[in-house]
Amino acid sequence: MILVGCLFLLIGCNNESTSNDEIDKKVDELLSRMTLEEKVGQMNQYNGFFDATGPVPAGGDAKHKYEHIKKGWVGSMLNVRGAQEVRKMQSLAVDSSRLGIPMIFGFDVIHGHKTLSPIPLAEAASWDLEAIEKSARIAAIEASAEGINWTFAPMVDISRDARWGRVMEGAGEDTYLGSRIGVARINGFQGDDLSAHNTIAACAKHFAGYGFAEAGMDYNTVDVGTVTLHNVIFPPFKAAIEEADVKTFMNSFNVINGIPATANKFLQRDILKDEWAFNGFVISDWSSGLEMVAHGYAKDLEHVAELATNGGSDMDMESYANIKHLVDLVEAGKVKEATIDDAVRRILRVKFELGLFDDPYKYCDEEREKKLIYHPDHMEAALDMAKKSMVLLKNENNLLPLTKDQKKIAVIGTLADDKDSPLGNWRMAGENNTAISVLEGLKAYGIDYKYAEGAELVTGPTAFSVELEVNTTDKSGFKEAISLAKQSEVVVMVLGEHGLHSGEGRGRANLGLPGLQQELLEAVYQVNKNIVLVLMNGRPLTITWADEHVPAIVEAWQLGTQTGHAIAQVLFGEYNPSGKLPMTFPRHVGQVPIYYNQYSSGRPGPKTEVFWPHYIDESEKPLYPFGYGLSYTQFHYSDLEVEVVGKQQIEVTVNVINIGSVTGEEVVQLYLHDKVASVVRPIKELKGFEKISLEPSQSRKVTFTLTEKELGFYNGEGQFVVEPGEFGLMVGTSSVKGLSSQFKIN
Ligand code: NOJ
Repeated sequence: MILVGCLFLLIGCNNESTSNDEIDKKVDELLSRMTLEEKVGQMNQYNGFFDATGPVPAGGDAKHKYEHIKKGWVGSMLNVRGAQEVRKMQSLAVDSSRLGIPMIFGFDVIHGHKTLSPIPLAEAASWDLEAIEKSARIAAIEASAEGINWTFAPMVDISRDARWGRVMEGAGEDTYLGSRIGVARINGFQGDDLSAHNTIAACAKHFAGYGFAEAGMDYNTVDVGTVTLHNVIFPPFKAAIEEADVKTFMNSFNVINGIPATANKFLQRDILKDEWAFNGFVISDWSSGLEMVAHGYAKDLEHVAELATNGGSDMDMESYANIKHLVDLVEAGKVKEATIDDAVRRILRVKFELGLFDDPYKYCDEEREKKLIYHPDHMEAALDMAKKSMVLLKNENNLLPLTKDQKKIAVIGTLADDKDSPLGNWRMAGENNTAISVLEGLKAYGIDYKYAEGAELVTGPTAFSVELEVNTTDKSGFKEAISLAKQSEVVVMVLGEHGLHSGEGRGRANLGLPGLQQELLEAVYQVNKNIVLVLMNGRPLTITWADEHVPAIVEAWQLGTQTGHAIAQVLFGEYNPSGKLPMTFPRHVGQVPIYYNQYSSGRPGPKTEVFWPHYIDESEKPLYPFGYGLSYTQFHYSDLEVEVVGKQQIEVTVNVINIGSVTGEEVVQLYLHDKVASVVRPIKELKGFEKISLEPSQSRKVTFTLTEKELGFYNGEGQFVVEPGEFGLMVGTSSVKGLSSQFKIN
């Protein structure tokens, strides 16, 4: 009896591994029936029949792709969507190829799908993991209803350089916050059951170092040391596997420490597949294989296939290297068939896990598609996320919130009347001009305002792959704006970046307000100082003048479909802003890269002589630090207590009270400093946070438990160590303001 009970228990407990074993068996069985050509086919991905996200590949015509699918030479398609379209394409593989292996359909589902949520950097500013997970969940529901079963998200690249256009797509500069958010997003996409029809495989990208492109210029070289690689760049990727079981990785365009990421054995084999035991697959980035020729690393496309495959890249996006050369390379002995088998196993496993072998059309239900796209619940969640993403940067004399009975409100700035820019970049399925503009939002909220454009921001065409033409000359609208400002009590100025000022290939050497907007702001200020500046942008901006002059500033980023409604509710106090900056705002572009978790220099300043790290013509301090953000209420911190409860376990408690007059949310942040270590440790590092809501006069005790995970670090050999010694600790409202203490571990 006892024995039977145990056996039953064992089988019961082992459910997951049993099903993994079953999948492995099925994969092996299928693999044993595949020809070398068919195996290589699985390692080949084709773009759909519009070339949306990169240069048009030569020879990528539809006829040729159709034939390949029918031969079983295509494992995946990207940029095909719509239940009907995907069904058609899938049936070519399933019904016409010899083994009928279904394809996996990938798409950039980055911040929402059709219903667009705020850009990822904005969502990160909410520090609200539940809301972020929900946002990804909804994106997956909509995308999977359109036939998609794999997203190329989340981007978990850490970046400290606001010049880099893709900061809009990540979670900002911090590794700890970035890891938590990456995990939340993957959980949202993949859900509890990957085989469900409304969950999709996620992809941690871009492995690795892409966010450290030199000079913030996209596709540029990356050169980082071991300590930065292990402590700053790797952790969000590792967490994606360990804490969220992410199914795929994407490598990156960049050369890192001399080797292109796409063929980087150290990254893809030693670290990812061996050390981290990742058993999903790696997709290249768009033609990142072929680009190794331009890098001067591969001599031709055949060499690309050899280097990338041996280097650990399992599927080729848009280089056509695998499909053209891998079979010959195996036959010539340059790539082992075992290497191919390993890659194909990984790809097939994900397809089995998605349930594609049970029903290749499970994501292709037109009824579901009709019902779920733009579902009211999705709109509501997008609005909630948008409100939570805003950061109140300045609020002199409590100018905000405005009141509904406020007379004579002027709204100035072309972005206020823009239904497209608020959608931001990387909204591949998004429909142009579908955001609620600020003007629409204010109107729907019952606000009586007068509007003047001031100046156009961009002239000429705007598209994902086209350079923007910024208006730097036409000031014909200034006069009207100035006269409106003169007659108004308060001026809401909506300024910032066009939706395509950030994103891939959108590096900026200047971080000010583009075009004529700074001039417009100053001109309006001359006649009316009562300005509320609403910023709409995809990256930190150097708004130093505005900070010095304008009384109220709200960072509204690009908030997606519900932008206008969210902004109206924040400006008029229906929602009390609670966001905190996930990236430092520099005062001047010359300070970049600027980030809070620096090392201490050997000459920490300030000093009376010049010999310390500073600039002679600008402050060395940021304009707004990481973790910073105000509220319409105030929070007071007290009673910080630190207790060493175990060898490597510390309990930290702090009391937070709302001392203002309205309910508000606060992100309580904990920072650590390992004072002396075998490698220099940052002066502070975020190691915990909690978002709490407090009514006026309400207080709450917040507790953090620190364990070796938070106390340790990676040394110069890439080993994780926890070293005894003293730690500084700060708990507070931003990376520069809080209560301090210290403790020691043995
Ligand atoms: C290139 C981008 O770098 C990558 O992030 C994206 O997923 C692919 N294009 C596919 O669109």
